[in-house]
This record gives sequence, C-alpha cells and structure tokens, in this order.
Amino acid sequence: MGSATVFRHRRPNVTQKQTLTVRDNRTGDEYELDITDGTIRASDVGKIGKTGEEPGLAVYDPGFTNTASTRSAVTYIDGDRGILEYRGYPIEQLAESSTFLEVAYLLIHGELPTKEQHDQWVHEITFHTFVHENLKSLMQGFRYDAHPMGMLLSSVGALSTFYPEARNIKDPQVRHEQIVRLIAKMPTLGAWSFRHAQGKPYVYPDNDLTYTENFLSMLFRMSESKYEPDPRLSKALEVLFILHADHEQNCSTNAVRSVGSSQVDPYSAVSAGIAALYGPLHGGANEAVLRMLKRIKTKDNVPAFIEGVKNGDERLMGFGHRVYKNYDPRAKIIKKATEDVFEVTGVNPLLEVAQELEKIALEDEYFVSRKLYPNVDFYSGLIYEALQFPPEMFTVLFAIPRTAGWLAQWLELVDDPEQKIARPKQIYTGERQLDFIPAAQRWS
Ligand code: CMC
Repeated sequence: MGSATVFRHRRPNVTQKQTLTVRDNRTGDEYELDITDGTIRASDVGKIGKTGEEPGLAVYDPGFTNTASTRSAVTYIDGDRGILEYRGYPIEQLAESSTFLEVAYLLIHGELPTKEQHDQWVHEITFHTFVHENLKSLMQGFRYDAHPMGMLLSSVGALSTFYPEARNIKDPQVRHEQIVRLIAKMPTLGAWSFRHAQGKPYVYPDNDLTYTENFLSMLFRMSESKYEPDPRLSKALEVLFILHADHEQNCSTNAVRSVGSSQVDPYSAVSAGIAALYGPLHGGANEAVLRMLKRIKTKDNVPAFIEGVKNGDERLMGFGHRVYKNYDPRAKIIKKATEDVFEVTGVNPLLEVAQELEKIALEDEYFVSRKLYPNVDFYSGLIYEALQFPPEMFTVLFAIPRTAGWLAQWLELVDDPEQKIARPKQIYTGERQLDFIPAAQRWS
C-alpha cells in the first residue's frame, strides 16, 4: 500500500480555531476534529464514517512514523536544530558537568537531586550491585561463545524470578526498589556477559568504586587486589553513559512501554527493551561504522568511497538520522571524548579515516542537500574498540545506561491514566470464511 497524494485546497475563510475540518467524500458528511498539541486523536478519526454496522476510519502507520503514542516529560528532541534535553537540561551541559547516576536520578525523578537525595541514591545503587549466586550459575550455563546481548536479556528477564514482589507495580516503594536494583545490577550482568565469552572468571562488584569505575573493574580486573581504572577512561565512559541514557520514543523504549502496558514487572519490560536494542537497525550501527572504516583502511581511499556512496552503491554508516536533520548533538560530545580516550590508549589509526570522511561529507552537496550529518554512532565504535571491547559488546554498553531512560519512561507509563494496553489495529488482507476440509479428506 503506497502513500496516496494529499490534496491541499487553500480557502480564504481562515478561522483561528484549533480544529480540523474533514469532508468524507464517500458520504458528503463533514467532521470537525480538535487539534491539541499539533495532534488529532485517533479515536476522533474513528468516528468518521462510523455507522451501526461499519467501523469508522482508522490511521495506517507502519513503524509509527507519525503517531504520538504518549505524552512524555522525559526527553525533548528538536531534530532540525540538533537539540537534545533530558527533563529540560541540554545534553551538552549534563555531559560536561554531571555524572551518570545524577542524570539517572534526574530522568527517573524529574528533577535534580539535593545533596542528601544524591548521596542516598548513590548509596542505594552502590549497595545493590551484587546479584544472587544462582543468577551467576544461570549465566555460566550459556555456551562458551554466547552473544553478550543474548545473555544480558535473559539474565535481566530472569531477575523477575528472584524478586516476585516486582509484579506489584502499583506500589511506589516496590517500584523504587526494582528501579534501584535494575540500574545497579546492569553493569554486573553486562560485565559478566563480557567475561563469559573470554573464559575469564566473573569479577564481583567493588562498592568502593564509582558506577563506571566499578564497571571497568568487573570488565578488566585480573589478579590485582584492587583495580584502579584510569580516571580519563572512567570519565569517558561516564560521558558515553550520559549520552545514551534516553532518546524518547525509539524502538526499544517503545518495546518497554508496549510490554509494560500489560502491567508486567519491570524486569520483563526492560528485557524486552534489550531485545529490541539487540537488532542491527537499532543498537548495531556503530559496529557497522567500524567495519566500514576498516574496509576503507586509509585516508587516501576516502574520496573513492564517497563517490561510491553518492552513486548509491552503499551508505556512509554513522551518517544521517530519522530525527536529526542537523549535527547530532551527541556526536559532537563523543568526538571530544574520543580524543580523551586516545590520550590513554594511543590513537586508533582509523580516526584519521573517520575525520577525513566527515570533512569531505560535510562539504559535499550530496550530504549537505540531504541534511546528512554524523550521528552518535560515528565515533562511539572507535572509542569502544580503543577500550578493547569486541563489537558484540557495543550494544551492551548502550543497554546499561539506557536502562535509566527505559525505567523513567516505564514509570511515566504506569502513572499515566490515559495509557491502555498497547494493541494496534490491522488491515486484514487474508482469506475469509473458507470451509475447512479435514486432513484425511484433503490428503486422500
Ligand atoms: N549515506 C548515504 N546516503 C544516505 C544516508 C547515508 N548514511 N542516510 C540517508 N541517505 C540518503 C538516502 O539515500 C536518501 O537519499 P534519496 O533522497 O536520494 O533517496 C536520503 O538520504 C534520505 O534517506 P532516508 O533513508 O529516507 O532517511 P531515514 O530517515 O529513513 O534514515 C537512517 C535514517 C539513520 C536509517 C539513515 O540515515 C541511515 O541508514 N544511516 C546509516 C546508518 C546509521 O548510521 N544508523 C544509526 C542511526 S543513529 C542511531 C540512534 O540514534 O540510536
């Protein structure tokens, strides 16, 4: 079903009313629908053409590209201007001066913490980093080469069996406890899924360390009695976590909300979010960028590669975005973090290729006219590789901070009296009213 033309008839009798008048040419009936916040209600559309026997009109929107599914006060994006704000605070300021746990508090609670609230929050998260030993056994049961995202989504789903009270989602105290547990345990489960594939022993959390330091310790600690991460690396990870903490109604957030709308416990809902993020169209682009840079190999090969992109042979991965039609604000911040990480790890030679690609693309008519700018994934793969993560871990590094955003959105859903169980309509295209012939007769 292709998109049909929408005709615009300009009429002189303009009113200032916030309504939409629609004439149904099948019947000649006219309808006036309220416009609120730039939207009309799908339920109002459903009244168009509705009779005793006939259903009313519905909207067809695969991928929800033009359907608002919720009112939300968590994250604001203006893609044309390259603006991203969490609870009204610009991402640039948060990345520069905040910490991931403070940002997680902001997303969940809607406002910045006082000193007491902050200390209490950090204390709670720090002391919930351990997981039940049986969960460790469950993870150890995976095949030696299990994908870390498969391990993460299964172990997060399994957490619901350790905290059966979590299903009591109407109780604010119970909700709070599960939110703390989830944010606290994600680095532990993520790090263990990384160690598993390497055949290395799982490292227990170290509660003397900060959130990102502890994560690095669980990832990389070997026989040393105390792991001391380089502060520049933990700071870079802190920035990456802040940048990935939320991004309004994307595929995985929509999955969390959709599954959560059945009133299941938050572990199961977040596990669905991780499953959505696992897909290459969502969490996997930075891995594709890295593969592309490795293929281009040197700066000299960049012009020929760009020509290939312009001829439609392939895409310049890490460029373009469904929402941002300007420089993705997260890409600017990541570019700076890349320099900080390379100070510690030594420069990845692919950086030169990436910079040349960016320079040429930003000046080229093909990319300029299509408003294609670097997105968050253009530089993040380079950082992750410098930190010695295999590509399969990149999405785990996305899922850990995004948990804060998923939970903020889940809380909003649970408290929103307008929300119902997610249940889209369909346009049925199959057969009808066939007569069933039993197998014995059909096959004789
Ligand atoms: N390289 C070359 N041409 C491109 C690219 C690209 N990366 N992206 C879009 N175009 C062209 C596309 O060919 C089309 O040209 P034309 O009008 O001549 O047919 C035009 O730009 C519009 O593209 P589109 O596919 O309609 O745009 P979209 O909004 O549907 O796609 C996108 C957005 C991100 C899927 C796409 O830009 C893309 O494939 N980028 C590369 C993959 C990538 O970096 N993905 C990560 C996105 S950020 C993840 C996140 O925020 O979580």
